[in-house]
Amino acid sequence: MIEVRLDKVSKQFGGARGVENVDIHIKPGEFFTFLGPSGCGKTTTLRMIAGFYYPTEGRIMFGENNVTFTPPNKRNTGMVFQNYALFPHMTVSENIAFGLQVRKQSKAEIREKVARAQKLVHLDGYGDRRIDQLSGGQQQRVALARALVIEPNILLLDEPLSNLDAKLREETRLEIKRLQLELGITTIYVTHDQAEAMSMSDRIMVMKDGVVQQVGTPHDIYNKPLNRFVASFIGESNLWEGTVERVEGGTVHVRTGSGSLVTGFAENASPECRLSVGGQVTVSVRPESIREARAEERGQENVLAAKVVMSEFTGVSVNYVAQIGSMPIKAMFIGPGQRMRGRDEDILFAIPKESVYFVE
Ligand SMILES: Nc1ncnc2c1ncn2[C@@H]1O[C@H](COP(=O)(O)OP(=O)(O)O)[C@@H](O)[C@H]1O
Ligand SMILES: [Mg+2]
Repeated sequence: MIEVRLDKVSKQFGGARGVENVDIHIKPGEFFTFLGPSGCGKTTTLRMIAGFYYPTEGRIMFGENNVTFTPPNKRNTGMVFQNYALFPHMTVSENIAFGLQVRKQSKAEIREKVARAQKLVHLDGYGDRRIDQLSGGQQQRVALARALVIEPNILLLDEPLSNLDAKLREETRLEIKRLQLELGITTIYVTHDQAEAMSMSDRIMVMKDGVVQQVGTPHDIYNKPLNRFVASFIGESNLWEGTVERVEGGTVHVRTGSGSLVTGFAENASPECRLSVGGQVTVSVRPESIREARAEERGQENVLAAKVVMSEFTGVSVNYVAQIGSMPIKAMFIGPGQRMRGRDEDILFAIPKESVYFVE
């Protein structure tokens, strides 16, 4: 197990920004994910760790070794590419053996290691198949075996599930997680899919336009987004502009654009957020944290009267889109016995104080 450190790493392409000032410390054995929309710099960062790109600025350390300008074949990383990059006319075994042959290992050793890697990804018995005779999911596992067979210190995965259909994607994501836990290997995973990132990672780095937005556990990223971008990119969020009206002790009251007052705890504010009276803030509330209030709760703190715009039944939940004056609100009620409501019906929402977050 090895730690990976990026010290203020930047990459420019000509004059254009690839990524800027990435400063992270990935722990030995950690499952660390780069998450963000297409073009945000995930692949560029991963390629610098693999050695396919060299940084314009900064330093990359594997443990005590400075590998900033070390060629890829001297880094002992295993990489799985988005398109798998397998040799289509070679067999499964030949594909997996390739990296070992390049490293000039003995025939017997190669045979044994390839068999072990095939077993690890549940492809024993498939050794003589050609790649073009395999399904997408099987090809993905060959790519994984090929990356693991060299016994890398670090496993690098660039959107490895994006070519699979939804069901297989979910299965394979559990499979990758199982392998990673079993091998205890430091793993860096790239995805634009927030559900994938949330379910697999020890920690996530959220990126946008080449700039790191937040680094934290899935729990932190979801519950304590540092800014609007993170709050809206990870899961769904109600984001309401407002003005701080009162701060008393640890409690903050914000007057939102629609005129209603939303109250939360000051400890749920991102560090970038100024919580002084008269200051502008964005209130962030997850739809699933909102509940329906009883009629007698009307007028109480954080109980808001709304009109339904639409409601939908998904099987596990009823989702509402509603309006509080001019302010849209999304709510998700989970569990059985939910009643659907039609357009313009009145509904009372209650927002638990501890579910109110202040960003920017
Ligand atoms: N080889 C390259 N030459 C020029 N620009 C590049 C190159 N690779 C990536 N970029 C640019 O760097 C930015 C980040 O790209 P990339 O790391 O591929 O994003 P992601 O993997 O998050 O989709 C993009 O604006 C992209 O156009
Ligand atoms: Mg990419």
